[in-house]
Amino acid sequence: MNTLLFQLSDTVGAAFAACGLPHELGAVKISDRPDLAQFQCNGAMAAAKKMGKNPREVAAQIIAELQKSDVFTKTEAVGPGFINMNITDAVLSAHINVLQNDPHFAIPQNGAGQTVVLDYGGPNAAKPMHVGHLRSGIVGDTLRRLLKASGYNTFGDIHLGDSGLQAGMVISELETRHPEWAYFDPRATTFPAACPVSFDDLGEIYPTASQNAKNDAARMEQAQQATLKLEQGHTGYKVLWQQIIDISIAAMKKNYAALNVEFDLWKGEMGVLPLVPAMVRDLKARSIAVESEGAWVIPVARNDDKKEMPPLILVKRDGASLYATTDLATLIDRMAMQPRPDRCVYVVDQRQNLHFEQVFRAARLAKIMPDSARLDFAGFGTMNGSDGKPFKTRAGGVLKLEDLITMAIEKAKARMADAHLAEGGFITPQEYDDIAQKIAVAAIKFADLKNARHVDYVFDLDAMTSFEGKTGPYLLYQAVRISSLVRKAMAQNIMGTKTITVDDDVRILALLLADFPNAVALSVDALSAHVLCDYLHRLAQEFSSFYNRCHILPETDSTKQANWLSISVLTRYVLEKGLNLMGIFVPTRM
Ligand code: ARG
Repeated sequence: MNTLLFQLSDTVGAAFAACGLPHELGAVKISDRPDLAQFQCNGAMAAAKKMGKNPREVAAQIIAELQKSDVFTKTEAVGPGFINMNITDAVLSAHINVLQNDPHFAIPQNGAGQTVVLDYGGPNAAKPMHVGHLRSGIVGDTLRRLLKASGYNTFGDIHLGDSGLQAGMVISELETRHPEWAYFDPRATTFPAACPVSFDDLGEIYPTASQNAKNDAARMEQAQQATLKLEQGHTGYKVLWQQIIDISIAAMKKNYAALNVEFDLWKGEMGVLPLVPAMVRDLKARSIAVESEGAWVIPVARNDDKKEMPPLILVKRDGASLYATTDLATLIDRMAMQPRPDRCVYVVDQRQNLHFEQVFRAARLAKIMPDSARLDFAGFGTMNGSDGKPFKTRAGGVLKLEDLITMAIEKAKARMADAHLAEGGFITPQEYDDIAQKIAVAAIKFADLKNARHVDYVFDLDAMTSFEGKTGPYLLYQAVRISSLVRKAMAQNIMGTKTITVDDDVRILALLLADFPNAVALSVDALSAHVLCDYLHRLAQEFSSFYNRCHILPETDSTKQANWLSISVLTRYVLEKGLNLMGIFVPTRM
C-alpha cells in the first residue's frame, strides 16, 4: 500500500492535471503549521510561474477541483499561494485500518529486488575498540535495518582493519620481545595452537609498538619490513597474526552483541590481498595506473574539481599495498558476490571523505563495477567530550567501548532506583539486569542516532540516560506504559476494537501513526536515522498527552474505551517497530 502522503499527493496531483498543470506539482507534505492545517501543497506557486499566472488564482482553481472530492474537510489558499488542507476523519480512519493490516506498514519498498552491501564497524585488529568505533557500528547497523525495511537484500560487512602497518608494528614488537618464538623462525613448520598473547595484553602491546616505531626510525623500518613479509606470505607471521585477529574478533563480537550491532560478513582487508597482484597488473596494462616516482598511482582529478584531488596511491615504492589498494580490491570482491550488489554504502568517519572520493573515482575509471551500481559515502561526525574535543576519559585516554557500556548500565540502574522502577520484588535479578541493559543500549544508541549523521555531537551520559526529554529511555518508558495499560485492561476484561475510529480525541495520534512510513522513507533517503528519531519522539510525546487527557481504564463509554485502547496498542506497535529499526529493544516493564 502507499503512504498517506503519496495518496494525497496523487489526489492533489490529479487536480493539478485537471487544471492542465503538471501532476507532480501536487506533492503534499505535512503542514509546517499544524495549528493551521494538517497538510499543505506548495505547487501552485511553481505552476503559476510556469504558466505566467497569478499563484493565488492557480491555487483557487485547484481548490475548486479538490472540493469535488470527498477527501477534504478544509482546503484553503493562504499567503502567496500555499494550499492548506485537512482530511476527513472517515478518510483517515480508513487509511489507519488498512495500514495496520499491511505487512510493510506502507514503508515504500524502493529497494525491492536490489542488493546492498553496507560497510560499517571497521575496527582494527590488535587494538581494543574504543568509543571512536561506536558511531560506525551504531549508524551502520541502523542503516542496514532501515534499508532492509525498504525492501533491499542487505549485507552488513565489518571490513576489519586487519592488514597494513599496524600488523607489522605488532609483529615486529613481539619479535623484538620474544625472538625465540617459533613464529619468527623462518624454518619452523609447527606453531603453538593458541595465541601467545591475550586481548588485554594487546591493549598494552599495540600502543607501545606504535610509540616505538614513531620514535625510532630503525623500529619503523622493521615494522614496514614485517608488514611486507606478512603480505608476501611469511608463514610464522601469518599464523601469529591470524591468532591475534581471532582473539580480537572474539572481543569485538562481545562489544557489538551488547549493542545489538550485527554483521552478515566478517571480511577484512587481508582477505582481498590475493586479488591485488592481478588487479594491479590489469590496471597497469590498461594504463589506468601510471608510474610516479617509483610508485604506481591512479590520477583521479577532474578539470572541474574545486579542491585539490591527489592521485590514489595504488602501490608504494617498496611494493606494499595501501588502504586504497585494499578498498579497490574489496570492491572487486563485492562485485563478484551473488547476487551482485546494486549498491555499496560506506559508513565511515567523515574525515575519510577524500579517501573514498579517490576510491570511488578510481573504481569508476577502472570499471570495477557497472555504471548503474551506486556508491554512497555515509560519513559521520565526531563524538566529542564536553570540551568540544574528541571524547576522552577523565585521565585523558581513549575510553574502551566495553567500559562505556558498563558505565551506561550502571547509570541506567541508578536511574531505575531513582524512579523506584522494577521494585516490589516482582522481577528476578536477571530481568532487572536485562532491563538495565536495554535502557543503557537505548540511551547510547538514541543519543547518537538522533543527530543528523554528519554533525558532531557531545557525549553526555547524564543527559542520554534521563527518562525525560528526547532520549532513548523516554521512548522505552512510553512503550512500556502502554504494555502495562494493556495488562491492566486484560485483567479487567476490557476489550479493544479491530477498527479504529478517528475523532477529536485521537485525531493527532492517528495522523502521526499514518506518518511513520514516511519518516522511515526519509531516513532511508538521507541515510540518517535522525528523521525517524524525531518522529518517534513526537509520537511518544503525543501519546503521553493523549494518555493524560483520555483516562482509558476508568472510562464508562465502552465504545470510546475500546477505541482508545486500540489506538494505544497501535502506538506501541509503531514505537517498538521504529526502535527495532535501530536495534533498540523494549523491555516488558520498567
Ligand atoms: N579500519 C578503518 C579505520 O579504522 C575503517 C574502515 C572503513 N571501511 C573501508 N572500507 N575503508 O579507519
